Amino acid sequence: MIARIGIFDSGLGGFTVLNRLLGRYGDLFCLYLADTARVPFGERSITEIRIIAGEIIEWLSAENISAVVIGCNTTNSLAFDVIKKGAGVPVFGLIEAAAGMVIESRVGVLATPATAASNAYRDQIEAENPGTTVYTQACPAFVPLIEGGEFFTEKTFEAANQYLKPLLDAEVEAIVLGCSHYPLLEPLLRELLPQNIRLVDPAIGLCSQLDDFVGIPALSDLVTPSLYSNTRFCVTSNPVGFASRAAGLIGNSPEVELISLRTKACLS
Ligand code: DGL
Repeated sequence: MIARIGIFDSGLGGFTVLNRLLGRYGDLFCLYLADTARVPFGERSITEIRIIAGEIIEWLSAENISAVVIGCNTTNSLAFDVIKKGAGVPVFGLIEAAAGMVIESRVGVLATPATAASNAYRDQIEAENPGTTVYTQACPAFVPLIEGGEFFTEKTFEAANQYLKPLLDAEVEAIVLGCSHYPLLEPLLRELLPQNIRLVDPAIGLCSQLDDFVGIPALSDLVTPSLYSNTRFCVTSNPVGFASRAAGLIGNSPEVELISLRTKACLS
């Protein structure tokens, strides 16, 4: 059986995970859901994040998928149990995958405020890698800047300088990109970091965990250009805006469907 993957995020961030998946397995069937009505997730309360995760998984699991790939660290860190319980199919997460990719003893994590406050990355990495110390930095400005297309602007440089300083002061040897939006800032971050600091993209580890599952051999770990011909894109608001922002990332404007989640709570 060839896998049908359900993948979700608040917005564009899940593309960095989707691209790794398609790079590794070719044009796999993927259903990508971006809860654009409620982006960013990372400054919401734990209760809101768990409600959002429950509503997303309820919708996805009704769509005949055979696995869930969590393309969002914020829900991964605060609602993994909700996602697992609601999915009814295997669930693949980013945080566990990242812990298996760490080899250094001083590690920084850049994450949304909610992920950072949860300490999920610190706990998982330190538990799996005895002797490693994790320094976590919340980056509240990054997701709004990325969603606004500011990948290389002065504002983004300023924010990155501010967020990287405590990690550089702590002399980290690697930095985990603990929000799926952040690999989109990799070129900018690389300009600010010494070459010897490794950037860790958890999506690479996550994809290799799918090898036994997807039913086709892995092609490569590289992000290869893809037609996205088997990916269905769905959003909870502004499909036109999402399609044009996505075009900036993938080179062509995908067809994007507007869907409604069964919302139990009135979250703006
Ligand atoms: N890209 C998601 C994450 O990995 C969500 C970011 C947000 O909406 O704040 O955490």
